[in-house]
Amino acid sequence: MSTPIRFYYQGAVREVTQAAPTQTILQHVREDLHCTGTKEGCAEGDCGACTVVIGTLGADGQVEMKAVNSCIQLTPTLDGKALFTVEDLQQPNGLLHPVQQAMVECHGSQCGFCTPGFVMSLWGMYLKQEGREPTRCQIDDALSGNLCRCTGYRPIIDAAKRMGELPAVQFDRAALAARLAPLQRGAMATYSAGGASFYAPRTLDELVRIRAGKPEAVLLAGSTDIGLWVTKQMRELGDIIYLGHVDALKQVVERDGMIEIGAGVALEDAYKAVCAHYPDQLSAMWQRFASLPIRNAGTLGGNVANGSPIGDSMPWLIALGARVVLRDAAGERELALEDLYLGYQKKDLQPGEFVQAVRVPLPRAGVRFRTYKLAKRFDQDISAVCAAFALRIDGGVVAEARIAFGGMAATPKRAAQTEALLLGQPWSEAALDAAMAMLARDYAPLSDMRASSAYRMKAAQNLLRRFWFETRQHNPLAADAVNAFAVRA
Ligand SMILES: Cc1cc2nc3c(=O)[nH]c(=O)nc-3n(C[C@H](O)[C@H](O)[C@H](O)COP(=O)(O)OP(=O)(O)OC[C@H]3O[C@@H](n4cnc5c(N)ncnc54)[C@H](O)[C@@H]3O)c2cc1C
Ligand code: FES
Ligand code: FES
Repeated sequence: MSTPIRFYYQGAVREVTQAAPTQTILQHVREDLHCTGTKEGCAEGDCGACTVVIGTLGADGQVEMKAVNSCIQLTPTLDGKALFTVEDLQQPNGLLHPVQQAMVECHGSQCGFCTPGFVMSLWGMYLKQEGREPTRCQIDDALSGNLCRCTGYRPIIDAAKRMGELPAVQFDRAALAARLAPLQRGAMATYSAGGASFYAPRTLDELVRIRAGKPEAVLLAGSTDIGLWVTKQMRELGDIIYLGHVDALKQVVERDGMIEIGAGVALEDAYKAVCAHYPDQLSAMWQRFASLPIRNAGTLGGNVANGSPIGDSMPWLIALGARVVLRDAAGERELALEDLYLGYQKKDLQPGEFVQAVRVPLPRAGVRFRTYKLAKRFDQDISAVCAAFALRIDGGVVAEARIAFGGMAATPKRAAQTEALLLGQPWSEAALDAAMAMLARDYAPLSDMRASSAYRMKAAQNLLRRFWFETRQHNPLAADAVNAFAVRA
């Protein structure tokens, strides 16, 4: 029997019973609810025209409000949540919300196509700041997923500053929590329409069981890869198992020198947790990984399970010695992350198995670690090359070496020969030069639209040199001497 999708929108609980499980939230809002404020630009999570805010009731009873791209989120994922679109912002007395008013006053809109998306991203920041003035970095971050082709960004950034100066409008989270509480479900719900089912387990046991019974179903986490299978590749997904309601996958725990991140933890939260331990080494990657709406929806587990050769988390996770915990009906098994990747799009994942968590080692004495992303744009861009280096230096000599790259092979891959060459060597310029040359034996990168093979190799070698400049024994350079971009402030 199919359970309807229930969510809160514009003061009422909505029910969906007919929509295909792969219908996007954007399609639902525009075509079924006839609320056309939210726009479609790219339908692939890049432009932000479709940005909405989703309210979720956490296990702690608190409501979280996050901006996401509605073009790549599927309607059934709304079950038990609240949806906010640009139509929600006008005040009951008819006045514009300060976010909208500031956009008007600062001339933040011309053709207006991007405007609803910008407004929703700014509203997401307005809610988070709770009256505190945002820094320029926070504004850039909040707007990292929104593109505008005609206004130019300066007036929109002015509006982001201006909105906090206007009379404040409070958002009643407690009232929303009370509306969402009755919509929560205690056990797995199954929504079926058009011949396909959307299974939403609540517990790990339910997930293990449904996965074992349906090993061919698509596992859906944050939908920031899978959404594009639907909107760009027009793929029929068949049955879907949704991980987003399994609270046990959303835990971040520190134990035994590791930080364990559940597969369902959003990228934004996962990076925040890891950056608390590696602030100087990982904050730039956090800021440059996709955009805030993508990080709000996407998960670290999805990044690792997808295992794209150009994904940004794998190189640094592998360099740090991260391990992945896999789970099926037979129990758990744990692998070094690099061993998960067997070949292009080929993983050591058995039918019925899923990624349960990623274990990331905490900082260790003597380990010098950096990761670098090379892409054409600062944020919201895919890497041409992504590098990560972790060397343990003992008495000036390399005692452990872990080097991993994205964009250099068919999988995220360690530089085994370069690592072997460095072991036992003084961390000197001569060793660096030899290691740079050895990278050409470890990798034979492809040429594609992002970069040529020769460029990738040269860039990879030069990133190793950059790492040496930052970590050499004598006169190491500070991050701001080698990084033209400001990091989080
Ligand atoms: C605009 C845009 C920008 C992006 N920028 C970046 C970027 O800068 N860097 C980068 O690395 N990536 C980027 N991505 C890719 C994407 O955001 C990441 O790969 C993300 O981490 C995927 O996670 P998800 O939760 O959304 O996965 P989903 O899309 O839900 O799933 C992805 C794949 O993983 C599988 N899967 C998910 N969870 C599990 C699990 N627990 N166990 C087993 N299998 C699982 C799914 O079945 C599917 O095959 C971008 C994507 C978009 C749309
Ligand atoms: S329409 Fe471009 S991000 Fe959704
Ligand atoms: S106002 Fe035209 S795209 Fe932004």
